[in-house]
Amino acid sequence: MLLGPGPSNPDPVVAGAMARPLVSHLDPFFLRTMDETMRDLRAVFRTVNHHTIPISATGTGGLEAIMFNLVEPGDTVVVGVIGYFGQRLAELAERAGAQVRRIEVPWGEIIPAERIAAELRRGPVKLVAVVHAETSTGAHQPLTAIGRLVREHDALFLVDCVTSLGGMPVAVDEWFVDAAGSCSQKCLGAPPGLGPVTFGPRAMAAVRQRRSAPATWYFDLELLFRYWGEGGGPKDRAFHHTAPVAAIYGFREALRLGLEEGLEPRFARHRAAHERLAAGLAALGLSLFTPPAHRLPMLNVVRIPDGVDDGAVRRDLLARGIEIGGGFGPLKGKVWRVGLMGANATTAVVDRFVGELGEVLKKRRETASVKREA
Ligand SMILES: Cc1ncc(COP(=O)(O)O)c(C=O)c1O
Repeated sequence: MLLGPGPSNPDPVVAGAMARPLVSHLDPFFLRTMDETMRDLRAVFRTVNHHTIPISATGTGGLEAIMFNLVEPGDTVVVGVIGYFGQRLAELAERAGAQVRRIEVPWGEIIPAERIAAELRRGPVKLVAVVHAETSTGAHQPLTAIGRLVREHDALFLVDCVTSLGGMPVAVDEWFVDAAGSCSQKCLGAPPGLGPVTFGPRAMAAVRQRRSAPATWYFDLELLFRYWGEGGGPKDRAFHHTAPVAAIYGFREALRLGLEEGLEPRFARHRAAHERLAAGLAALGLSLFTPPAHRLPMLNVVRIPDGVDDGAVRRDLLARGIEIGGGFGPLKGKVWRVGLMGANATTAVVDRFVGELGEVLKKRRETASVKREA
C-alpha cells in the first residue's frame, strides 16, 4: 500500500488501460483520445480553458512549463512559500529570469491574504505563485481571496495543485486562477509521468505577447498546442514529440473513473478517510502536526512520539507491505507523512494502516523496554 506523499496505488482499471495495444502518437484514435483527455481534465480542473493538457513530464515539468512560458527575464514574481514546494516554485521563477519576492511563513502555517495584498501594493507584479496543498507540511492554502486580489492588481495567478487535484475542490475559473499544474500520481490515481496543466485566456495572452521565445523548446506552449490543437482553429496536429501513449491511456481512464464517481463524492471520500485516520491516530496516542484549521485531507503529517525511531518504524511498516513518507527540511525525523490519495482514501485502507501501525509501535516499545531491563 502506497501511503506516502505519492504515488498512490492506481486503480487496476487504470493499469489495464495502460496495457492496451499501442498506436502511434499521430494515429486518429490517439488524436481522439487526446481530445477526450483534454475534455475530462477541464472538468476536473473546473475550467473552460481550452489550453488544458497533461504535459509529458511529472508535476514539476508541468510547473516548469507554466513558469517558463509566463515569465520573461526581469519580470517581478511574488511566491508564497509555506514549505518545500513553495521554495521550488521560487527557484523555477528565478531560473526563468524573474526578480522573485518571497512571502514566507513558518512551516505548518499558511499565508494570510493581507500579506499578498501588501506585496501587490509595493509595485507592478507579473505573476503570483502559491502552493494549494503543501505536501511537506500538510497545510491547505485557501485561494479564493488571493485569486481575487491578484486579478484586481492585473497580475497572473499560478497555482501548484499537485497534491490537491482530484482529492479536494480546485476551481480554476471560479478562483481566478490563470495557470495551474498538478500531477498524475496522487489523488487522480494514475502512475507518475504526466503533469496536467491548464492555462486561461489571460495566461495565453501573456504567452503570445512575449518579447522573445521561452528558453525551453520542449515546453514551449506555442509548439505544444500545434500538436494538441488550438481551440476553434484547424487541428493540424504537427509532430512535436512522441507522446507517452500508454501513460495517456491510463491517465484518461483515471480521469474517467474520477468523473464517474463524481468530484464531490470523491472529495467527501478523501475527507472521511482523513477524519477516520485522525481519530485512529488519536486512539494510538498520536497527534497531527498541522493546525486543524488548515489541514489537508489527503496528506496527514503525524508527529513522531519522543523516543520512537522514525526509520525503524517505517522499515517495519514496509516489511508489512505499507509505505509511508518521512519528513524533510525542518521536519526531518520529527514527522511521518501519510497519504490517503485516490483509491487509497477508504475506510478499509485507514483501518488496516492504523492497525498495523499500532502493532509496530507496540512491538518497538516492548523491545525497548526488554533492552532497558537487560
Ligand atoms: C506540492 C507539490 N508540488 C510539486 C511536486 C512535484 O511533483 P512531481 O514529483 O510529480 O514532479 C510535488 C511532489 O510531491 C508536490 O507535492
